[in-house]
This record gives sequence, C-alpha cells and structure tokens, in this order.
Amino acid sequence: MKIANVLLFSFCVGVLFSCKEEGKPSLSIGSISIEVTPFGHFGNQIINEYILTNQNGVQVGVINYGGAISRLIVPDKDGNLEDIVTGFTSLDGFLQTNNPYFGALIGRYANRIGNASFSLNGREYRLESNDNANSLHGGRKGFDKVYWDVTIPVGDSSLLLTYTSPDGEEGYPGNLQVEVMYTLTASNALKIKYKAMSDQSTPINLTSHAYFNLSAWKENNILSHELTINSRFYTPVNQYLIPTGEILPVDGTPMDFRQSKSIGKEISQVEGGFDHNWVLDKEIGELVWAAILYEKGSGRQMEVWTDAPGIQFYSGNFLDGTLNYTKNNLTYHKHSALCLETQHFPDSPNHPEFPSTLLHPGQEYRHTCIYKFSTR
Ligand code: BGC
Repeated sequence: MKIANVLLFSFCVGVLFSCKEEGKPSLSIGSISIEVTPFGHFGNQIINEYILTNQNGVQVGVINYGGAISRLIVPDKDGNLEDIVTGFTSLDGFLQTNNPYFGALIGRYANRIGNASFSLNGREYRLESNDNANSLHGGRKGFDKVYWDVTIPVGDSSLLLTYTSPDGEEGYPGNLQVEVMYTLTASNALKIKYKAMSDQSTPINLTSHAYFNLSAWKENNILSHELTINSRFYTPVNQYLIPTGEILPVDGTPMDFRQSKSIGKEISQVEGGFDHNWVLDKEIGELVWAAILYEKGSGRQMEVWTDAPGIQFYSGNFLDGTLNYTKNNLTYHKHSALCLETQHFPDSPNHPEFPSTLLHPGQEYRHTCIYKFSTR
C-alpha cells in the first residue's frame, strides 16, 4: 500500500493506523480491529480488502469492487476458525465474466424484472436484459460491478460503502445515492444496513449475494445443511424464474421449511433446485428472524434476520465448476454453496399486488440484514 493511500485512508477514518506489519495498516476501535490489504486494480482504481476482526477471531473481509464480502471466518464447535463464503484469491477472480455475483452488493434491483421493463407514471422504462429477455441483479453492469468508496465512520467499528448511480444507469430513473454499512459485532454477527435516496421515483431492491457453506467445504455441497424459514407462503415462478404473481401456501409442498429439514430432503421435487422467494411471516418493516441454517458436522449455525418482506433461498443451482482463482483451489459445482438473500419480492415493479419497491424523492430506502453465527 502506498503511503499516500495510508494517509488518505487515515484521514477518512479520523484515526491513525498503527502498522502491525509493514505495508499493512491496521487500527483497533473498541474490540474490533480493521486491516487494509491491497487486492488488485480495477481500471485506475486501487481495490483493497478491508478486514474487520472481533475479539473472538471472527473476520469479515469486504472489497471495494462490487462491495463484495470476500471472506467470512467463523469458529466451528471446536473453535476452528474457517472461511464459510465462496470467493477468490485476488481481484482477477471477481472480474471473471462468469463470476456468479460472489459476495457482491446487488442493485439497483436484486433478482429479476420480467421483460426487462416496467411502467412508472405512465412511462415505460426499458432496462438492460441479461437473463433471457429479463433483467437480473441490476442488469449488465449492476452494483456488483462498480467501484464503491469505503470509509470507516469516526469512532465506529463499521465499513461504510457509498455509490452514486447516475440517472439512466442500466435504464433506471433518477440519481440514486446508496450507502451500505457493514458492521461486525462482538457477538459474531455481521449487520448489513442499506440506505438510499433518489431525485426521481425509481424501483429499488438491494441485497447481498454472499454464498455460504457452513462446513467450510469439508462437504462440497450444502444438501445436508438443515434449514428453517420463517414463512408460510412463497411466490411461485415460471420457467424463467419470474413470479407468476400468485402467493401460495408452503403447506404440503417441498417449499415448507417451517420445521427444520435438510435441503437435500425434497430438492429433487423442485425443478432446477430451490431458487424462490419466501414471504416472511411478519408485519411490514418489522425486524424478525427469517431463516436458520445449521450444519451438523461443524456445529455452525447461521441466523438470518431482516426487516425486508422476503428472502430468496437459492441452492447454488447454476454453479458449474468453471471458475478460476477460487480460494483453496476449490471447485464450486452445483449446490457447493447457497444464498439467503433478504429482499423485496422479485419483479415487484410489474406486480402491483406485491409490496411496493418504489422510492420517491424525499423518501429514504432502508433495509437491514443480519447474519448471526453461533455453534451447537
Ligand atoms: C438468483 C438466481 C441466479 C443467481 C445468480 C440468485 O439470486 O435467485 O436465479 O441464478 O442469483 O448467481
């Protein structure tokens, strides 16, 4: 890391770094330490990995390309600290065209918008289509493929990421100012808080695309992970994974995760595997537990909490073993990892019956997601 960078970064955080190792600035705020390591170049931008570590040795790494979570190291039941998210050893991995959004921040609209279009105030907006005729995860160049500014708010043990999406980007209206705060707590939780404001009405749906395997790839598939989802209803989809508009009970279907069950138990009855949105059992805006994931071998458990109306459970169906630069040279194949993405329902801009995703000027979009780790 160049001295100029260190100084600039120190200035941003308002505190001075102590150099633990030469070239690796680090600081401690409360019980959390923060280290910054060079991770590559994106055009003429320097990409760093910002690593938060708590007093239990739990680590969260975030890079400013795509605002992606690059590492998440948590203990197993015997105290072994291991990385439980997919990722790459360098930026080259994240830049691969077939990178399936590993760890990235997703926007302006997470998941799909059917026919890559929506109407708003009597006008039709055409988006970039990148998934058949539909728009997936913000289009060709979503928030996962942009440079995010990273700062550490004074006196805080968080990373604050900001990005301004210009009016018309990927077809969306309005200049949108986005803030994402990653916080690692002393009780082994990663909190992600999203905020956004726009100068024109726009649909918005932000999420994190972290892929988890709680065994840390001792098992290279997640089928024996046990999952509970706090939901009585889900939104069925057509063959292109666009919601039909129905909201159906999970009762008597493989979508019923109200009682913990292994992901593999009924996956063969779901064409292509799980890749659906569950309607969370709660009031609008209420923060509740949305899902609990448990892996017996390691004893690791992850609770997912959110105030968003839905959660996408994606069982890694399209992972195909073709990625390079993977951590530990792992081959990520079908079901090697899974995502639990807190969100609004897919294609809401075309479904007035779904909770609205419109953000109007003068309003603030807010969304919280918490991944909390423990063992049993
Ligand atoms: C979607 C999948 C998609 C994947 C891309 C998930 O959020 O639900 O359908 O293939 O992202 O990696």
